[in-house]
Amino acid sequence: MASEPVARAVAEEIGRWGSMKQTGVSLRYMMEFGSRPTERNLLLSAQFLQRELPIRIARRALELECLPFGLSNKPAVLKVRDWYLDSFRDIRFFPEVRNRSDEHAFTQMIKMIKVRHNNVVPTMALGVQQLKKDLRNTRKVHRGFDEIDEFLDRFYMSRIGIRMLIGQHVALHDPNPEPGVIGLINTRLSPVQLAQIACEDARSICLREYGSAPDINIYGDPKFTFPYVASHLHLMLLELVKNSLRAVQERYMNSDRDVPPVRIIVADGEEDVTIKVSDEGGGIARSGLPRIFTYLYSTAKNPPELDGPNEGATMAGYGFGLPISRLYARYFGGDLQIISMEGYGTDAYLHLSRLGDSEEPLP
Ligand SMILES: Nc1ncnc2c1ncn2[C@@H]1O[C@H](COP(=O)(O)OP(=O)(O)OP(=O)(O)O)[C@@H](O)[C@H]1O
Ligand SMILES: [Mg+2]
Repeated sequence: MASEPVARAVAEEIGRWGSMKQTGVSLRYMMEFGSRPTERNLLLSAQFLQRELPIRIARRALELECLPFGLSNKPAVLKVRDWYLDSFRDIRFFPEVRNRSDEHAFTQMIKMIKVRHNNVVPTMALGVQQLKKDLRNTRKVHRGFDEIDEFLDRFYMSRIGIRMLIGQHVALHDPNPEPGVIGLINTRLSPVQLAQIACEDARSICLREYGSAPDINIYGDPKFTFPYVASHLHLMLLELVKNSLRAVQERYMNSDRDVPPVRIIVADGEEDVTIKVSDEGGGIARSGLPRIFTYLYSTAKNPPELDGPNEGATMAGYGFGLPISRLYARYFGGDLQIISMEGYGTDAYLHLSRLGDSEEPLP
């Protein structure tokens, strides 16, 4: 337990750092900077993070304290806030990084911070679900929930940025990176090949849950590549494909008609790489469309247990798949759109910016 004056001092520090200006970086900048991971550059990178991370973390800690409907006081949200406070302290109490050995210790420390925050998304989801249960009997909550959705968008967007910065810095220490890989960025990522991997993963989850899985056809040139973060693209594709498989599966499960395959089309434009995930799973009612990008909307029946590191391992449940995927797309200047034909199927358009020079959105 921190003593009263210490707690007050930390609160003051958080207030001060939380009002400083954040500095964004672009995919292209990370790629250019990371292509020369010299000792000097790693030191510069650590020094940048030592100043930038506390600013970003403090902002989130401040916001976590004043959420509407008493969400801030839910045990799960308090837990998340403590992680942010601990990480803020870890970085602020770390001595100024001046040389190689400081840099190594600093890198170990931020690597640990990243692990500490692994379960932020399901833990926040739990807090939001607790709140939703409390408010079930009050009618007028919908307007107020917009505020929570907007908060969660800012919060998760910021989290993507923080994890990208830490992950990139840590990964630049790899002594034998694979050819074409700069930190977390794969400069020659084949979206078709990655789609194949994401589809296998989604199908095996579907098989496990339903005992069968619709086929998936992928159209596009497997030799086409562009620079992107493979883990981000994998996450987005996995979420979209899971949604499509679930829709098709549920629609055809008890019928003897032929199951129509899910189709994935990869287009390489000059500005964007666009990936369309197209299914004949019956679509989404127009009245439900405004809600699919909110964090509380899911038509899944049994929300999964929210206490393990099982992000993405079930077919459906939290209602987080689409909003989070759209944040990942927007993080590097892309976007995600869903077009539905109720009674037929759904097309998801994932646009990824090819130029890579849009700056991080900094909520
Ligand atoms: N391809 C699709 N066809 C029909 N309905 C869809 C499709 N994609 C999404 N939906 C609807 O939108 C809702 C929200 O999707 P989202 O991926 O955000 O959450 P989820 O799949 O319910 O849970 P999870 O967080 O596990 O992804 C789904 O519950 C489903 O009702
Ligand atoms: Mg989903």
